[in-house]
Amino acid sequence: MTDRRLPRRHDLAPLLKFKRPVLSPRERRLAAALTIEDLRRAARRRTPRAAFDYTDGAADGEVSLSRARQAFADVEFHPSVLRDVSNVDTSRIVLGERTALPFGIAPTGFTRLMQTEGEIAGVTAAEAAGIPYTLSTMGTTSIEDVAAAAPAARKWFQLYMWNDRDRSMGLVERAAKAGFDTLVVTVDVPVAGARLRDTRNGFTIPPTLTPRTVLNAIPRPAWWFNLLTTEPLAFASLDSWSGTVGDLLDTMFDPTVTYDDLAWIREQWPGKVSVKGVQTVADARRLADAGVDAIVLSNHGGRQLDRAPVPFHLLPSVVREVGDDVEVHLDTGIMSGQDIVAAVAHGAHFTLVGRAYLYGLMAGGRAGVDRAIEILRGQVERTMRLLGVATLDELEPGHVTAMRRLAPPD
Ligand SMILES: Cc1cc2nc3c(=O)[nH]c(=O)nc-3n(C[C@H](O)[C@H](O)[C@H](O)COP(=O)(O)O)c2cc1C
Repeated sequence: MTDRRLPRRHDLAPLLKFKRPVLSPRERRLAAALTIEDLRRAARRRTPRAAFDYTDGAADGEVSLSRARQAFADVEFHPSVLRDVSNVDTSRIVLGERTALPFGIAPTGFTRLMQTEGEIAGVTAAEAAGIPYTLSTMGTTSIEDVAAAAPAARKWFQLYMWNDRDRSMGLVERAAKAGFDTLVVTVDVPVAGARLRDTRNGFTIPPTLTPRTVLNAIPRPAWWFNLLTTEPLAFASLDSWSGTVGDLLDTMFDPTVTYDDLAWIREQWPGKVSVKGVQTVADARRLADAGVDAIVLSNHGGRQLDRAPVPFHLLPSVVREVGDDVEVHLDTGIMSGQDIVAAVAHGAHFTLVGRAYLYGLMAGGRAGVDRAIEILRGQVERTMRLLGVATLDELEPGHVTAMRRLAPPD
């Protein structure tokens, strides 16, 4: 028989740990998000459908994106045990400067449409975290305003090259003058990918009010209030624009650009050059021979060629071919710190995150980007500790294998 007694006050006191309630709904929302997927759900609730789909969506059947995410999910980690992991160092020298974490913010266009704090939220959060921020040619805040908002941030500028050299030169000069140290030249966009969600949603820049958008706006008043009561959108590289996203992209991309234009840009730019959108070993070799400083294995987050190679799968052969000659960076499909650690173990020197930070932005502006970075940082650190490594250099291919997926029964 169990002896029972009445609970006493001093027994109960240590068990009662009521926390002070968090009054700000934004703080509550962000604190409740433990993963990037949680931030994505919060983002979806708060953002009008056309803007959310522009961010979340990819090209055609969205196969490139889902395969890239699946490739990370199919990773198996192999931990080493009995290592001292009381301190882990997540920093690394990337293109000549130390960065606090093995990821930076990828260039994303139209960022203020997703949430009005846009590029300023991204660059100031990157500054606070000690990681690089990349401003897109299609950014919605000017080069100079981004630079002024975060003078201590490490800033990279993403260029869509035009065959019209004066036009490219104008941007490159402005970025150099504003203190951007690396030019990220994106090369996987001879034309725009088929973003079917945007076409179906009738997505335009700036957003137009049709009966459908008004209906969709009713449960998301904060987004519209923010859009209508803050600075009108300014593009990094265009004075003004109104039209469909497709029309805008068509003026931005130039199908005649070749390796010669890249060589010309390299001569004009005083800093480092990274080429983003590399998808074969042969192009990686050719770019390394051309003397660029970094290549980014990327299929543009699945937004360009659908069924393109999965960057994580391409990584080992590219690292074998050019890893000693050029820094190999990687993006597409990263949704967790575990994904980042797996990429580094397979030889990526650095990674970039696109949607992962944008979900945070849509969920809560600057604080949401901070939360996204914090989630990724926590996951990177914990995964390193669980793998028994104290520095990024200790990560090696043996820590990660890609599991073969089970085929469905016949
Ligand atoms: C909404 C959105 C806009 C983007 N805009 C650009 C851009 O203007 N220039 C560019 O080079 N890449 C752009 N990208 C691609 C990203 O730089 C990056 O390659 C991609 O997001 C990586 O995949 P992830 O979203 O799965 O991390 C964009 C991606 C997204 C999601």
